[in-house]
Amino acid sequence: VRRGRISKSQRNAIETLSKKYVISYTSELVPWHSYFGRVAPLVLEIGSGMGEVTIQIATEQPDTDFIACEVHTPGIGTLLQNIEATQLRNIRLIQKDVNMVLQHMISNESLVGIHIFFPDPWPKRKHHKRRLIQSDFLKLAVSKIQLGGYLHIATDWEDYALQILQALRQQTLLTNTSPDPHGFIDKPSYRPDTKFEKRGIKLGHKVWDIVFRKVS
Ligand SMILES: C[S@@+](CC[C@H](N)C(=O)[O-])C[C@H]1O[C@@H](n2cnc3c(N)ncnc32)[C@H](O)[C@@H]1O
Repeated sequence: VRRGRISKSQRNAIETLSKKYVISYTSELVPWHSYFGRVAPLVLEIGSGMGEVTIQIATEQPDTDFIACEVHTPGIGTLLQNIEATQLRNIRLIQKDVNMVLQHMISNESLVGIHIFFPDPWPKRKHHKRRLIQSDFLKLAVSKIQLGGYLHIATDWEDYALQILQALRQQTLLTNTSPDPHGFIDKPSYRPDTKFEKRGIKLGHKVWDIVFRKVS
């Protein structure tokens, strides 16, 4: 995601559309179903960036509700513009560090899925501790997934992919859905290619998809 300044149209979208689609951070559990106006399966997308994938998946899965969590303001603006343009009713946004969101706003065992697509790689070894996906984070995230629900992570950084797999294998409530001994799966059809991903592939990066399911 480009860390550019916020554009006029993004700012305008935030000013005019936040009331409709953005849920403010609160330290209390949020009655998500009342925000969506229905009871439907709930998926949390962490680090939605510009929301390209959010829009595509939400379009293809109208019977599922999506919470997009992102800290980057321009991304929030663009996603808001696109929600309004597509008139999708199954996306809400929250602009806050996902650790806080998971801790306070989401009930245990309430999500059917969590999507984390291309988390910031922090490639330098001395920055690895800043990576989002670590044991404590995973433990918290897994506690929010229902029995039978899933956690889907995709990255184009091999060492991060391996670190993620290793951390997930330690989560005893999860099982890997991969039939492959290396532990990765082919890209599920519901995850569209993004510009970001296409750029990575051009640079010779591979993409690793990891899906674990909650089994106890
Ligand atoms: C590399 S970008 C990928 C964005 C998008 N998923 C994509 O594939 O294009 C990672 C995103 O995660 C967001 N992010 C990083 N840490 C976060 C956190 N703790 N809570 C919420 N979002 C976070 C960043 O702001 C950034 O937009």
